[in-house]
Amino acid sequence: MIVLGIETSCDETSASVLIDDKIVSNQTYTQLIHSKYGGVVPEFASREHEKVLSLIIYKALQKANVKINNINCIGVTYGPGLMGALLVGVNFVKGMSIALGIPFIGINHLEGHIFANFIDYPNIDFPFLCLLVSGGHTQIWNVKNYQKYNLISTTRDDAAGEAFDKGAKILSLGYPGGPEIDKVAKLGDPNKYKFTIPRIKNSEYDFSFSGLKTALLYKHNEMDEKEQKLERSNLAASYQKAIILSLLNKIEKCIKDTKIKTVTIAGGVAANSYLREKAKKLEYKHNIKFLFPSFEYCTDNGAMIAITTSYYLKNKIFSNLELSPIPNLNIK
Ligand code: KG4
Ligand code: ZN
Repeated sequence: MIVLGIETSCDETSASVLIDDKIVSNQTYTQLIHSKYGGVVPEFASREHEKVLSLIIYKALQKANVKINNINCIGVTYGPGLMGALLVGVNFVKGMSIALGIPFIGINHLEGHIFANFIDYPNIDFPFLCLLVSGGHTQIWNVKNYQKYNLISTTRDDAAGEAFDKGAKILSLGYPGGPEIDKVAKLGDPNKYKFTIPRIKNSEYDFSFSGLKTALLYKHNEMDEKEQKLERSNLAASYQKAIILSLLNKIEKCIKDTKIKTVTIAGGVAANSYLREKAKKLEYKHNIKFLFPSFEYCTDNGAMIAITTSYYLKNKIFSNLELSPIPNLNIK
């Protein structure tokens, strides 16, 4: 079976080809236009998708050595995400489906991130915990089986990726902020500044990052310009440490309470090197396994959509032409 997966929910235009459960190509174009605005500008995102999507699909097919007429099914993200950006992908795929006479399937972007770990680890045992950390979401799922997800934890305010992006803006680093902080923090001392992790009333599991961002802003504003420059790497390292330890503390709590021994990490923040390093240490402490996707499958990509599509295709669950994007789509 040959599956094409398309992702256009935010600022990555991506297409991937999967043949018999193996990803054979994954072409991603990251829209650079947003960096000068310090965040994604929705209108520009739609226009960029519109401009490059057909070329990205062509490249993905070419790399996989697949002719367009041989595709059996197409999967496309239909939410959550930016309405205009989603519309470009969904409508393109509807057109392809009609022209080629093949079925298509609308895929939930969050479920796509969860499935990303199946690309490198196809036989993960259920149940497993999934820490989904992206620019828009910070959630811990108990994945009991395919399509059986139980939400344990979410964020009360900012998402972890958003905390990285906002922190980077305060420190005058580029956008997206996660990779920038990750890089600069390697030169700094994570113990130089104490950014405390907030406790949430009435919830042992939920996250909150907006107070952390304010603490960074205050600390940064206390300094003059020279000191801000000198201390940038120490501030980045200390701030990153607080975000990552907050994520891992909650995961530790979930491991203890559920006794589940496999934890997958998904979403853009899964690329973070400090998170990967600290998770390794927890593996020994709790005798558990942390699984991370390859770097190209952490941030938004077509491959995670293709692998999720292949599951629905096997179960003969298809979409029809009435499918519309749902910007605030959740997992049931
Ligand atoms: O999954 P993703 O590509 O898009 C969403 O679905 O939101 O995640 C993007 C987020 C951004 O906030 C970006 O700053 C963050 O992932 N990110 C990272 C790293 N690489 C990307 N955060 C921390 N460390 C990284 N290395
Ligand atoms: Zn995403």
